[in-house]
Amino acid sequence: MTQHVTSALPADAPDDGSAPREWWRDAVIYQVYPRSFADGNGDGMGDLPGATARLPHLRRLGVDAVWLSPFYASPQADAGYDVADYRAVDPVFGSLPDADDLVREAHALGLRVIVDVVPNHCSDQHEWFKRALREGSGSPARERFHFRAGKGEDGQLPPNDWESVFGGPAWTRVADGAWYLHLFAPEQPDFNWEHPAVHDEFRSILRYWLDLGVDGFRIDVAHGLVKAAGLPDIGHEEQVKLLGKQAVPYFDQDGVHEIYRDWRRILDEYEGERIAVAEAWTPTVERSARYLRAGELHQAFNFEYLTTGWDAAALRAVVDRSLDAMNAVGAPATWVLSNHDVVRHTTRFADGDAARGLRRAKAATLLMLALPGSAYVYQGEELGLPEVTELPDEVRQDPAFFRSTGQDGTRDGCRVPLPWSGERAPFGFGPVEGGPSWLPQPAAWKDLSVEAQEGDPASTLEFYRAALAARRAHPALGAGRDVEWLDAPEGVLSFRRTAPGGSVVCTVNLTAAPVTLPVPGTLLLASAEVTSDGGAATVPADSTVWWAA
Ligand code: NOJ
Repeated sequence: MTQHVTSALPADAPDDGSAPREWWRDAVIYQVYPRSFADGNGDGMGDLPGATARLPHLRRLGVDAVWLSPFYASPQADAGYDVADYRAVDPVFGSLPDADDLVREAHALGLRVIVDVVPNHCSDQHEWFKRALREGSGSPARERFHFRAGKGEDGQLPPNDWESVFGGPAWTRVADGAWYLHLFAPEQPDFNWEHPAVHDEFRSILRYWLDLGVDGFRIDVAHGLVKAAGLPDIGHEEQVKLLGKQAVPYFDQDGVHEIYRDWRRILDEYEGERIAVAEAWTPTVERSARYLRAGELHQAFNFEYLTTGWDAAALRAVVDRSLDAMNAVGAPATWVLSNHDVVRHTTRFADGDAARGLRRAKAATLLMLALPGSAYVYQGEELGLPEVTELPDEVRQDPAFFRSTGQDGTRDGCRVPLPWSGERAPFGFGPVEGGPSWLPQPAAWKDLSVEAQEGDPASTLEFYRAALAARRAHPALGAGRDVEWLDAPEGVLSFRRTAPGGSVVCTVNLTAAPVTLPVPGTLLLASAEVTSDGGAATVPADSTVWWAA
């Protein structure tokens, strides 16, 4: 074990009590998906030393924090979301000292570090689960999971009708005839959160990483830990279609909140404003806000925003609903367009035309960064990476791909390793030109690498840098709680954000044609070229403009 980080505050933060408080309320948080970010040792898989070496890119980009998806010891049945040892780094990603280095380096660069915690389920290779299998029916070891007898004459049918999010039944039968519950892959048995040992274990895991110096946690499947008493049937097939739309007995049960009140007490014991963000797919933003009531968590991902299409009325409605729900509990809204589980938004917004997709993606970025609250950026979106849709089946690794064609069926396409530099794959992802990468990159990514875009004012990378710099320079972007909607033609959103020191007007043209509007201030940044003629400006189709007003 290397030296511990004693403070979660970035090293460049003044230590005189004047450091900004509640940094997380308007933080821009960059998601690093470790296996695809940067490969330090050339084995084709991203790792922690690789990520540490690339932290200056994030500093230069201008984000406030990094969230790392799991790098813990894991058989990788679900890309690390199947954890075998919550206190160890998987050798494929490095070592514990490498994690320590990453946290210290990030802090030295003024970046906070958030890590994933996966409390709903572990790996079937976790010691507790192996013991539960060994010790058999009726043993105390089995009580830490959901083991049940099956239905039917010989117990040959699953105990209830719950389906895995990845497709197929949520139950798997073991050699002695009992069944265990797994809301995800069979290699991911669900913990039984009725058991006190599970609570104790996760308290200890949180403290372990907080002691190492992390600034917070992203809580995987935060809505799943508590199941409805008696594990009642749902009486509905294709349950994946219900998720995030209507209540199901395995998600968003009221009992989860007691767990997060407990976790908040732990976070608050530490200096430096350690935070937690919930990955909670709930039917409404109001249900998500319940995770953020006083004494609970700091943020929750806004999946309703993520799943809203390129539509002015729908976006305005979700912004209003989100702000109302979050303001009611005093929590910041969050905004996110992409992550490692969904089709990249450049492709989602394309409607079959890649250039249109990129135009809209950049416009969507300026919209997101103008809204009050915290924004999440998924690695590679600053390069304008599209979804990779032509991966051959034999290279795919997403367990969901093999189990279903449902919600999460094709997650490899957003997980292709990043291009950093050079002429040949893996484009600087690993140290050796022509070396391996765990998923192949399209040849065209040569032109999307960091190196290829750096210094080109027309590039997506320089656009992101400019947007994040402007957001820092203008507190009206990001800070505060409300937007003031301004009159705008149909298909156009226009709103003012105000903070001490000035206001900014954000105008988004979601239509397919340019619109001409009165100029509300001095042009600050635009996602496409805006022409201005005296008092009127023409905002191109699918673009966003910021004006200092
Ligand atoms: C949500 C994670 O983001 C996803 O990648 C994972 O497969 C599931 N939770 C299960 O842990």
